[in-house]
Amino acid sequence: MKRRNFIKTSGAVVAGSMLLNPSGAMAANFAGKKTRVALVGTGVRGISFWGKTIVENFSDIVEYVGLCDINPGRLAFGKSFMGVDCPTFTNFDEMMKQTKPDMLIVTTVDSTHHEFIIKGLEYGAEVLTEKPFTTDEVKCQAILDAEKKYNKKVTVGFNYRFNPHYTKLRELLKEKRVGKLTSVDFHWYLNVYHGASYFRRWHGLREHSGTLLIHKASHHFDLLNWWIDSDPVEVSAYGMLEHYGKNNPFRGAKCRGCEHKDKCKFFWDITGNEHLMKLYVENEHHDGYIRDSCVWRNEIDIFDKMSVQIKYANDVQVNYSLTTYSPYEGMTIAFNGMNGRIDSWDGIPWRRKEKLEQAELHTKEMSQDKENKPADYEEIFVSDNFGETNLLKVPRERGGHGGGDKRLHDRVFRNPESPDPYGHFAGSRDGAMSILIGTAARKSIDEGRPIKIADLTDLVPYPSRGV
Ligand SMILES: NC(=O)c1ccc[n+]([C@@H]2O[C@H](COP(=O)([O-])OP(=O)(O)OC[C@H]3O[C@@H](n4cnc5c(N)ncnc54)[C@H](O)[C@@H]3O)[C@@H](O)[C@H]2O)c1
Repeated sequence: MKRRNFIKTSGAVVAGSMLLNPSGAMAANFAGKKTRVALVGTGVRGISFWGKTIVENFSDIVEYVGLCDINPGRLAFGKSFMGVDCPTFTNFDEMMKQTKPDMLIVTTVDSTHHEFIIKGLEYGAEVLTEKPFTTDEVKCQAILDAEKKYNKKVTVGFNYRFNPHYTKLRELLKEKRVGKLTSVDFHWYLNVYHGASYFRRWHGLREHSGTLLIHKASHHFDLLNWWIDSDPVEVSAYGMLEHYGKNNPFRGAKCRGCEHKDKCKFFWDITGNEHLMKLYVENEHHDGYIRDSCVWRNEIDIFDKMSVQIKYANDVQVNYSLTTYSPYEGMTIAFNGMNGRIDSWDGIPWRRKEKLEQAELHTKEMSQDKENKPADYEEIFVSDNFGETNLLKVPRERGGHGGGDKRLHDRVFRNPESPDPYGHFAGSRDGAMSILIGTAARKSIDEGRPIKIADLTDLVPYPSRGV
């Protein structure tokens, strides 16, 4: 890996950061023609979020010209599920040479993203990759170099940013509602269903996912970078595997047919899910990938509890944690400013109960109509030093991530040039900075020392991202 000299951050380079961050339009305006799209990785994410949803909502402007996967069975099922009639390929180069797409969408296993991003750029396509951008600093540098070399843009599908709840937090921080931001407490809880699902799949091996510090937390690190509006400079972390993997007294190979199923709380019956049966189980014979592997496999080598401290170039300090066996799914966050504090949360059952009771009470008071249901909303509490605490309600919208998923799709396919005042659209620099925190955290755990972000690639951390 080439490691360029560290250049000290200064006001002058901040201006440069705006130029380096390709957060503008994604695909070119293809002159009134449909955008010709190819996709590699026809797993559940590829064929639904970037597949069927796009075909159903954007067929007037988007045309699928090719699909690729190493698993021919999954590829054939993906094509019929998406309802497209484009050619399919098990060889990526053949797809790119034959179809010459305007845009390549990468939805393969995390550790392979860089291969397709780099080749996609080389073949002259704009590239949209699912998170994580990639899984380590060497691959990250290679992508950044390729982007410069081929002068094409990489976009990262950070859908969380587009959630109205998270956008409101960004708005409050941008307007410095509680003064200069000084520190952030951010804790994310994956429950025993969602959390466990990572340990059943390829995600349980760091060679494929880079650990959940990359695969999962890169969403959260990206939000932090975006909210704080600065780049990370140093990371210290702890992490252990003490619940899943080798920690259980019994284990099987997979849930189907497991002799321990009656006593295993984590037994999961994939045969009850027709879609997953067709996509994965019926295609196991092609590549040996088992979708319902045992969460107690000895080979699992990722952490299941993680805590990370991040220091930013603007002196903000972050305490972050990720738990993978929580009874509920949710998060808490607090932004400490010089003049107050912003608190928010998601999914915490006792808080939700209290919120819904309050909302019901309010609806009854305000309405004569007994059928009227209480409006659902997200809560943000803004507390002023020596002052009061006020509740801001962010209306909850239907659709994935509070309507955020649709906004991301609209921005990518329909309105790539639309104004972006809060910098929602994420380019390669954003993708890189999110995974560099995870990479640094993993290194910090492995090596027992703090890791400087500037030592990982040639990216220079800036005090302000300039958005
Ligand atoms: N943004 C989000 O909220 C979100 C949600 C889910 C998944 N994702 C991301 O989407 C990607 C796919 O996730 P998934 O759950 O669909 O996984 P998956 O395992 O179901 O699908 C991955 C597909 O890639 C294929 N593949 C692997 N290596 C390949 C190669 N070398 N060449 C061609 N195909 C290859 C596999 O055969 C499989 O069909 C991951 O990177 C994941 O992080 C993002």
